[in-house]
Amino acid sequence: MTDFQLAPSILSADFARLGEEVDNVLASGADIVHFDVMDNHYVPNLTIGPLVCEALRKHGVTAPIDVHMMVKPVDRIIPDFAQAGATYITFHPEASEHIDRSLQLIRDEGCKSGLVFNPATPLSYLDYVMDKVDMILLMSVNPGFGGQSFIPATLDKLRQARKMIDDSGFDIRLEIDGGVKAENIREIADAGADTFVAGSGIFGKARDEDPNRYDTIVRQMREQLAK
Ligand code: DX5
Ligand code: ZN
Repeated sequence: MTDFQLAPSILSADFARLGEEVDNVLASGADIVHFDVMDNHYVPNLTIGPLVCEALRKHGVTAPIDVHMMVKPVDRIIPDFAQAGATYITFHPEASEHIDRSLQLIRDEGCKSGLVFNPATPLSYLDYVMDKVDMILLMSVNPGFGGQSFIPATLDKLRQARKMIDDSGFDIRLEIDGGVKAENIREIADAGADTFVAGSGIFGKARDEDPNRYDTIVRQMREQLAK
């Protein structure tokens, strides 16, 4: 039985009360905090950095924090996120001049490393670094914004990535990010994902119903995964 993990993207949380939002979504049964870092350079949007990661740790968050860096360059900021309490640090291969070095740097800093693939980025970037990644993150939307629709071609890519992981024999999580909802999470799991980022699918949906409770949506996603 796969150990499925839910990673709410706080991009869709209420930033004015972020600590509380993270506490609530974790109390509802989510596993990982997905932390989207955007620099208005690699992607056309600007979000949060190491200070906010550190603030969540100081607030008392003990769950893994999955820092998804949509920034360029990547190396200078890696130690800052490690210092700020990141668990995973992932980056886009196009954003690093030296992918192997950046992956190694993340591990040297004591974090788990990962590569992120945009919808049109080939998985061949993994060919010589499978032993250096703890997570492979497939984007099922183009990065930069929450609330976009899942790109169906990602399902085939997930199947390819799953095979690469299984063939490698390494312990690597396969994460999916973008347009994940209770309605499609089962199909995405069937294609090989084991870690599910959901922003609007969790925060957006629940806020319309009850601003403090994410139990219903988290339960619905878990029920789908348990099928
Ligand atoms: C997009 C981010 C995602 C985003 C997903 O660049 O990487 O994590 O928050 O949002 P939804 O789940 O709304 O597609
Ligand atoms: Zn993300």
